[in-house]
Amino acid sequence: MKFSHYFATCLAAASTTNAFAPSFTTKVRNSKALFSSSTTEPSTYASVERYVNDHPNNNIPPHIAALVGRGLHTKEDHPIGIVRAKIQDYFNSLDEDYKIFDAEDPIVTCKQCFDDLRIEPDHPGRSPSDTYYINDETLLRTHTSAHQSMHLRDGYERFLCAGDVYRRDEIDASHYPAFHQLEGVKLFDKDQVKGADGLSKEEWLASPECKMIADDLKNVLEGLMDHLFGPVEKKWSEDFFPFTEPSFECEILYNGEWLEVLGCGVVHNEVLEMAGREDRRGWAFGLGLERLAMILFEIPDIRLFWTDDERFHKQFKAGTITKFKPYSKYPPVFKDIAFWLPEDFVENDFFELARGIAGDLVERMELTDEFTNPKTNKTSKCYRITYRSMDRSLTDEEINDLQNKLREEVVSLGVEVR
Ligand code: PHE
Repeated sequence: MKFSHYFATCLAAASTTNAFAPSFTTKVRNSKALFSSSTTEPSTYASVERYVNDHPNNNIPPHIAALVGRGLHTKEDHPIGIVRAKIQDYFNSLDEDYKIFDAEDPIVTCKQCFDDLRIEPDHPGRSPSDTYYINDETLLRTHTSAHQSMHLRDGYERFLCAGDVYRRDEIDASHYPAFHQLEGVKLFDKDQVKGADGLSKEEWLASPECKMIADDLKNVLEGLMDHLFGPVEKKWSEDFFPFTEPSFECEILYNGEWLEVLGCGVVHNEVLEMAGREDRRGWAFGLGLERLAMILFEIPDIRLFWTDDERFHKQFKAGTITKFKPYSKYPPVFKDIAFWLPEDFVENDFFELARGIAGDLVERMELTDEFTNPKTNKTSKCYRITYRSMDRSLTDEEINDLQNKLREEVVSLGVEVR
C-alpha cells in the first residue's frame, strides 16, 4: 500500500492546544456511559464551510468536507462504534486507567500531524496529492497520531484517542478517503526506565528497558486481538514509522489469510523531547477501525459504513458482533477511459474528480493499461471504472451521463482523452 512507509493502518494518522476548538474528552468505565457522557459531539465539526475555502492550497472538495463530523465512531449501534467500544472495554478491563479522547478537532496543524512526529517536510505523505489541506498551516488529520504530542504535553500518560482521518487515495472496496483510527499511548513510570538515563541511541535500543516496553506493548495488543477475535494466531514484524523506534506491525491469521491490523512501536525519544516529556519512555499504537470492522462483521465494501440505508443499520446493535447479511448486490457497470498524460499527472486528482462527479457510485478505479509511445515519448493510461450502487439498479443512461461528464472534466487535469 502506498502509505505503508509510515501510515500502516489505512485499512486498516501538538505543540499547543488546538487552534480551532478545545479538545473534548470523555472518561468512562464502560461503553454504555461512553456514548452518553460526551458533552460535545463530533457532529460539531459538520460544517462544509470550515473545510472548503478559497485559499490557493485548499484542496478539499465539498464531497469530502461533507463527510466530516459524521462521528461514526461515537454511534453505539454502528459497526465502527461497536468495534471502538469493544476496544475500550478491553482497555477498561486492564488495571490501568486510560483517558479516553473521542472528539478532537479533525483540523490539525502541520506541526501536530507531521513535525512533532518527525515526519520530514519532503515526506510523500505530506504532499497535497496525499493530504487534504485547509491552507498552508492546517489540514484534515491523516492519522490520529496527530494528537499524541498535544496530550503528552498536557501531561496525560495513558490514553486512547479515536477519530475520523482523511487521505487522498486509490478507490476500491477497501479504500475510502475518510476512515477511522484508534490510537493508544502509554508512558512508563520514571523508576521503571531509570536504567536508560544517559544511554546513547544504540545503547537504548539494546537496553532491557526498551525491550520491556516493546514486550509490554506486544502483550497488551495480543490481548486486544484475542478480545476482538477470540484466540487468534498473530505474527509480529519490524516496521518503520518516523515517530517510533523500534516499530512493529501485527498481522493476524483470519480465515487462512494473514491480515495486517495495526502499526506500533516504542515512542521515539525526539517525539517525547518535543512534547516536553524527555524524562519518560513509552509506547504507541494505531489501528484502523474499518479494517477490524470489515473482518469482524464481514462487511465487504468500505462504502457501506457511510450509507444511510436502513437495511444496513438495522442489522447492528451495540455490544454485539453479527455477520452482515448483504441485502443487495446490484450488477456493476464497467466503463473504460483512456488518455495521454501531462507531465505532472497526479493519479489521486483523477480518482477524486471521479468521486466528485459520481460519488459513492464509483466502487473501484483500476489501471488496466499503460504504454509509452517511443516516438513522442507520451504515456497513455487506461482506467476501468466500476460503477455500482449499493442499494439500487443503475440505468445505462445515468452511467453514460456520469462517464461523459468525467470525460469532459478530466481535461482540467491537462490530459488528452483518447
Ligand atoms: N499513525 C500510524 C498510521 O497511521 C500508526 C501508528 C500509530 C504507528 C502509533 C506507530 C505508533 O499508520
